[in-house]
Amino acid sequence: MSEFDRFASSYKSALDRTIAFSGESSEYFAHYKAAYIDRALGRSGSRKILDFGCGVGLLASALAKLRPQDCIHGFDVSADSLGQVEEGLRSRGLFTADLGELDHDYDLIAVSNVMHHLPVAERQGTIQELAARLARNGMLLVIEHNPLNPLTRWIVAHCDFDDDAILLWPSEVKQHFAGAGLTAMRCDYILFFPRMLSRMRGIEPRLTWCPAGAQFALSARKG
Ligand SMILES: C[S@@+](CC[C@H](N)C(=O)[O-])C[C@H]1O[C@@H](n2cnc3c(N)ncnc32)[C@H](O)[C@@H]1O
Repeated sequence: MSEFDRFASSYKSALDRTIAFSGESSEYFAHYKAAYIDRALGRSGSRKILDFGCGVGLLASALAKLRPQDCIHGFDVSADSLGQVEEGLRSRGLFTADLGELDHDYDLIAVSNVMHHLPVAERQGTIQELAARLARNGMLLVIEHNPLNPLTRWIVAHCDFDDDAILLWPSEVKQHFAGAGLTAMRCDYILFFPRMLSRMRGIEPRLTWCPAGAQFALSARKG
């Protein structure tokens, strides 16, 4: 049994409760990340995406809405979480807890808020495993909590399912990329303003250099 099986049916409500002070729901964060991926991939042609550590499918679902042309797969160690993925998504792609079922030609693999749940000793091996599953020129995207942001730290400290969390710095992710033979591309800080300051969100694309965002998105390419 995986740790997240315990939270499968309550994951979304537990997350919504913890982030309520931001004035936004889990859908806002999922859509924000899906839009980031959409911009990174561009609109030409259809792509094959793996949402690694997809949980109950919040990001995959937001991606499917923005990019109906794409093939979206999901992997998670929590079979019960996968059981909560909406039927429409499961019927159009592979959602599995069996690593062996995944393909080796993904254009993009997203690892959103998963790495901090992995024991430190397993992180390099996981990135290597994912690098091997990328297509030539495929992109690996790691989205993580920014340890420099005090509100992010507060959320992690008060979140029901973050007891095992060990936060990572961008430098650790870059080391794992290099160890897996990937070429680091960008490090963007994201998610700066709560709903109360939503009028400021228009300047977020110009703040990606500023390590004050709630999370960071680090990408690397194969080959
Ligand atoms: C905080 S949730 C994030 C879910 C989703 N990616 C999102 O952004 O909403 C962390 C997820 O990582 C999964 N996870 C933990 N260890 C994993 C591993 N070794 N391989 C794949 N997924 C794992 C958990 O089961 C859980 O669904």
